Amino acid sequence: MYQHPTGIGTRLAHETRNPFAHHGFVNTPIHRGSTVLFKTLDELESAMRVDTRRGPYTYGLIGNPNSRELELLCANLDGGAGAVVVESGLAAVSLPLLANLAAGDHALFTDSCYGPTRHLAKSILPRMGVETEFYDPRVGAGIARHFRANTKLILLESPGSLTFEIQDVPAIASAARTRGIVTAIDNTWATPLFMRPIEHGVDLVIHALTKYQSGNSDILLGAVVARDEAHWANLKHHAEAHGHYAHPDDCATCLRGMRSLEVRLRRHEASALEVARFLESRAEVARVLHPALPSHPDHALWKRDFTGSSLVVASDLRQSRVAPPWTEEGALLRLQIGLEDPRDLISDLAQAFDRAARAASDA
Ligand SMILES: Cc1ncc(COP(=O)(O)O)c(C=O)c1O
Repeated sequence: MYQHPTGIGTRLAHETRNPFAHHGFVNTPIHRGSTVLFKTLDELESAMRVDTRRGPYTYGLIGNPNSRELELLCANLDGGAGAVVVESGLAAVSLPLLANLAAGDHALFTDSCYGPTRHLAKSILPRMGVETEFYDPRVGAGIARHFRANTKLILLESPGSLTFEIQDVPAIASAARTRGIVTAIDNTWATPLFMRPIEHGVDLVIHALTKYQSGNSDILLGAVVARDEAHWANLKHHAEAHGHYAHPDDCATCLRGMRSLEVRLRRHEASALEVARFLESRAEVARVLHPALPSHPDHALWKRDFTGSSLVVASDLRQSRVAPPWTEEGALLRLQIGLEDPRDLISDLAQAFDRAARAASDA
């Protein structure tokens, strides 16, 4: 077996691979399949008693060598007890909600969450008898003021999907822990490379692997990483009960992307900052929302808890926000900075500003 060094770049490159189980070929071959055969009933029954992270495979829906490899890598990178991979990032958002909430419960959602998460909170969960409430993403330890006797879960996302507030994750997680409230965070923006929420006290970490981990816009996939055994077993139980599934081809494609995650993300980080600084230098831009810029109101929190930054440098300012209501006026600009040469992006933006200025002066 491999001896794995612990640096995250090295772990991204090597962790969970086992070439010598596959004739020395570096990557795990793709195992498509539903039914798994056993020679005897005893073998099947004993396989079904073993932990699905380690034991023999029993049915395609429950796991295959490709999904297991990806789950083990996700758990390793986040420092969790286990992970569950599912068919999309959105399924990774809904799974911990459905696994931890029941009729009569109250759940808190950051007001800055991803749009479809908001839809789950506003429309789907209330239909199932769950009371939901949005809180100010900058609430910090003040989250305790929202706790009720029936509060069961807090959903965090940092930075917020469109408005980019950085949350005080350790303060919220610690307040939740004293009351036995489950915390789940959507960590898609940071990935485990730039923020590991379990180290800050969070119970469940959600990833849309569709984005940076897979990296090529050719698959959808999600993962939830659990801090401890009990959370992992609960997630796995519900994933099976709801029929969640991650296709082995997609898992292998995602793993291929993850091996180069650090290189790509560092490039995204540098390019996004270059574009952000350009935008800050333009008189036309009132405000650039990017937590790695010293001008960002939560820059100090970002510096304390994150080890890097990724994309999106300015944001949609027309928000349907309630806690607190969004009052800012102005045009919208949300930029997802890719792997293009940042000089090309900047010159494209510069010519757009010039054209807009010409159009305004002609009008
Ligand atoms: C923050 C965040 N969470 C979750 C998702 C959902 O991912 P998917 O598109 O794989 O369902 C997205 C997708 O844009 C996202 O930006």
